[in-house]
Amino acid sequence: MLNAVDAELSRLARSAPSFAPVRMGRIVSCDGGLIEVSGLNAPIGTLCRAEAGGDEPAPAAEVVGFRSGRSLMMLLGDTVRLQPGALVRAEGHPGVVKVGEEFLGRAVDGQGLPIDGGPPVKARNSWLLGGRRESALERSSVIEPFDCGVRAINALATMGIGQRLGVIAGSGVGKSVLLDTMVRGADCDIAVVGLIGERAREVSDFVGRHMRGEARRRTVVVAVPSDHAANLRLRGAQLATSFAEYFRAQGKRVLLVLDSLTRVAHASREIALSLGEAGAARGYPPSALAAITKLIERAGNSASSGGSITGLYSVLADGDDQSDPVVDTARAILDGHIVLSREIAQRGHYPAIDIPASLSRVMSDVAAPDHLRHAATLRGLIAAHEANRDFLLMGVYQTGADPQLDRAMALQGPIQDFLRQEAGHTAALDASVDALTRLMGDGAK
Ligand SMILES: Nc1ncnc2c1ncn2[C@@H]1O[C@H](COP(=O)(O)OP(=O)(O)OP(=O)(O)O)[C@@H](O)[C@H]1O
Ligand SMILES: [Mg+2]
Repeated sequence: MLNAVDAELSRLARSAPSFAPVRMGRIVSCDGGLIEVSGLNAPIGTLCRAEAGGDEPAPAAEVVGFRSGRSLMMLLGDTVRLQPGALVRAEGHPGVVKVGEEFLGRAVDGQGLPIDGGPPVKARNSWLLGGRRESALERSSVIEPFDCGVRAINALATMGIGQRLGVIAGSGVGKSVLLDTMVRGADCDIAVVGLIGERAREVSDFVGRHMRGEARRRTVVVAVPSDHAANLRLRGAQLATSFAEYFRAQGKRVLLVLDSLTRVAHASREIALSLGEAGAARGYPPSALAAITKLIERAGNSASSGGSITGLYSVLADGDDQSDPVVDTARAILDGHIVLSREIAQRGHYPAIDIPASLSRVMSDVAAPDHLRHAATLRGLIAAHEANRDFLLMGVYQTGADPQLDRAMALQGPIQDFLRQEAGHTAALDASVDALTRLMGDGAK
């Protein structure tokens, strides 16, 4: 007993006395991942730590709301070991995260803690997790082409620097592989990749592939796999966007990839429903859709710094349903979408881009007139061939009835070769446009 008192006294002697009030509360209820804490009035967004038995680190929680004088918090980990009446302390600044060059070459979780086995990241700069609200005029327009490293997109749905593009498809059609190729091939200064709600295996594969050699120095990965708490997944997406905003403010051309936006929407839906908000479209409360709109709006060009965030967001069309609320919201707010088709993937054609259904809304502003003309011609040929595919397979089409279809049939082999691209192989913008010109140019038949 005396030993214990001695130890406690020497611990107190070592620590500098602090007369600042310590803010603490007590857990009064725990319902799933949501806990109610009385006696602690911390602002929304504050990170807190709950006391728990054992030697394991105390579970963290984030204040997400308040009701009848009590704070509502979401746990960032498991509820195991949490007990009624446990003390909860507020920690850190609400809604502020560390950002900076120190994160380049690192893979971190939704709290910015390393998951790559490396030392803790000691970053000095702070940034608002939710971003700063900027005036609409701060977003300069998209006028320069962006080289994404994928031939079919570079040639037929050319992206622009500062554009926000969605990759929409059902599960297993090739979204992640396409985004992976784009991270490898894109012409940018910094690549920030948010892997949110994906499989843990995919996260380690991605880190293994991209965190090597030259590419490592320009890449940051924020990964929150699907088994993590909903608000950690949302935080992961916000943290990745904050990293991108920081580098944009340094005048850098940033590529921000979020795989997947749908999983971020699922996380916001989980949070909103547990806070008692009513579900609307397909169970998505309005705030869940507003959260992804806000995330997307943070990407774009900055007039003041000259930097840019080109955003790529994968969107899962559940059951290949294109009228899903997340698909709808993303389509409405994004500056273009690439639709991947299961039918094309089943033919073994990758990337399985459904060219007639895909669109880049900025292409006419960033591509040269000749390029636009050739792209329109090729899109027309592909659409004609796809629309008449069944007739052609049945052999009922008479050559000569439709000159456009005749040309599409004659060029089918070279067109398919042009659209195919192996995973991991990249095609630069100039080379893609040259290949398009050779295929469609005046010399071609
Ligand atoms: N370019 C490609 N070349 C060859 N195979 C590909 C290519 N793209 C995708 N695939 C095949 O499709 C499979 C699924 O791809 P991917 O994981 O990218 O799908 P996804 O749309 O991200 O799925 P989920 O919605 O489940 O995350 C891959 O494992 C691979 O076999
Ligand atoms: Mg995927």
